[in-house]
Amino acid sequence: MIRKCLFPAAGYGTRFLPATKATPKEMLPVLTKPLIQYGVEEALEAGITTMAIVTGRGKRAIEDHFDISYELEHQIKGTSKEPLLREIRDLIEQCTFSYTRQREMKGLGHAILTGETLIGSEPFAVILADDLCTNGHGDGVLRQMVQLFNEHQCSIVAVEEVPHEEVSKYGVVAVEPMENNSDLYRVRDMVEKPDPEEAPSRLAIIGRYILTPDIFDILRRTPPGKGGEIQITDALREQARNGKVLAYRFRGKRFDCGSVVGFVEATNYFYDRISE
Ligand code: G1P
Repeated sequence: MIRKCLFPAAGYGTRFLPATKATPKEMLPVLTKPLIQYGVEEALEAGITTMAIVTGRGKRAIEDHFDISYELEHQIKGTSKEPLLREIRDLIEQCTFSYTRQREMKGLGHAILTGETLIGSEPFAVILADDLCTNGHGDGVLRQMVQLFNEHQCSIVAVEEVPHEEVSKYGVVAVEPMENNSDLYRVRDMVEKPDPEEAPSRLAIIGRYILTPDIFDILRRTPPGKGGEIQITDALREQARNGKVLAYRFRGKRFDCGSVVGFVEATNYFYDRISE
């Protein structure tokens, strides 16, 4: 059973400077809701109530967001503004939040390893908040993955087919098909941000993972890879060699809110659906 979701949230968000100079990128709003709140809502919808957040310097706003603001709530009590806080209030009441800090930026693998203290030795989910996922009124992406985990009990990465020239932005998987589910693959190999000529496929990993806890020991001995950083892709590769990683082509849409273009697309998408 998956009870905990890890949110690596220590990155600098340099692509959004100057907005991210003093504001965590995870707090940038799509409409009126910060990116990380979409992620927490997705985890909760998947039945997960423990949110484990890896933060860093300058990220205090995330902790304050998932807490009560007595002064603010007192001010707006009984006014027409009160309902605007209801959603986040309900969310906070259903979840627990714990935090640890990543002191140095040494890659996604290192961020996940930093979260070990919050996760312990159980399988867990990972959400990268800047990959904003939605499946309309259907099951969310993480919920779909948790259902698959319950059946297969191994690590799972969410994948999406991307244009050939974009593979170098992602972890890319080499897969073989599985019986009974044309959206599920067994991962044979994976490579972080390959040159398009060397990519094993066009199936790119997006920011949703379910990981078994042996990943922590693997990460501890994973040397720096692409960009001199400790890559989760490299650690997963070791699990994949033992046939213990599945790739899932999820139902739904994903916006790359780590880029300005993706962020604007997400904003337009959610704006168009306000009245639904
Ligand atoms: C990270 C991972 C990469 C994955 C991507 C998904 O890269 O290292 O394998 O495909 O997230 O968004 P980043 O976007 O942090 O450079």
